[in-house]
Amino acid sequence: MNVGTRECEQDYKGFVGTLAKYDLISANQFNLLTFLNLRENHYFLDIGCGSLRAGKLFIPFLLPGRYYGIEPKQWLIDEGIRNELGEDIIKVKKPVFNNDDNFTLSVFGRKFDYILAHSIFSHASQHHIRRCLSEARKVMSPTSLFVATYAKGKFNYTGDKWVYPGFVMYTEAHMTALFREQGLSSITLDWPHPEFQYWIVGALCDHNEGTDTSEQYILDNLTSIVKEHQERFLGARETLLDLYFQRQE
Ligand SMILES: C[S@@+](CC[C@H](N)C(=O)[O-])C[C@H]1O[C@@H](n2cnc3c(N)ncnc32)[C@H](O)[C@@H]1O
Repeated sequence: MNVGTRECEQDYKGFVGTLAKYDLISANQFNLLTFLNLRENHYFLDIGCGSLRAGKLFIPFLLPGRYYGIEPKQWLIDEGIRNELGEDIIKVKKPVFNNDDNFTLSVFGRKFDYILAHSIFSHASQHHIRRCLSEARKVMSPTSLFVATYAKGKFNYTGDKWVYPGFVMYTEAHMTALFREQGLSSITLDWPHPEFQYWIVGALCDHNEGTDTSEQYILDNLTSIVKEHQERFLGARETLLDLYFQRQE
């Protein structure tokens, strides 16, 4: 796999993942977030935004000043802007970037409606994940969603290093427990990914039963949002297929 190897170190596409799937992975992130009801007025944080593989779609979509990206490697952001977006749209949409390398999500001094961490936990140690989620908690409101991917495995990575290139794995139960430890209820979604990663969505919860931030309430809500959208999506798909086959007849 062509991920951040020495030969492509200065290749802004190859550095963040499989070169041939750069476009698919952009679209996959945008599709899921809009499926989860991201609107143009929402405040959006892209953790480890890299070369703006996701940002190339989110920045034009969101209103000015709504896209925030954290990325330690400024050259990736610069190349993403130069090759994928252009300076004009940056002037119009005014995205905000920061090069913090310790998941200090509070560095922007504001809360976010949606937080994306695509292909971050698939390289991160448990210490990094805890740090990231504990920071996320500080910048979330009760309606915010934290949307991430991880590589699902039978065992949990126990090292303390960021592994890159290369991947680390966690079990679904352990990932859920890491979220819960930091006060987030989560569900692993049945949403496709162009590679082997799984999507997980989390929301703030407390441990008091019967409140609208209780874990059960949040889980029920997350499940029903996803189910409702899935049903709508499947309904639309049926209609499209019917139309397609009618035209063939
Ligand atoms: C596999 S890439 C994913 C990039 C982007 N999320 C995407 O899907 O295109 C992982 C990214 O995380 C960045 N990264 C590494 N350590 C980080 C940290 N502490 N905080 C934020 N990003 C970090 C890397 O520089 C790299 O751009």
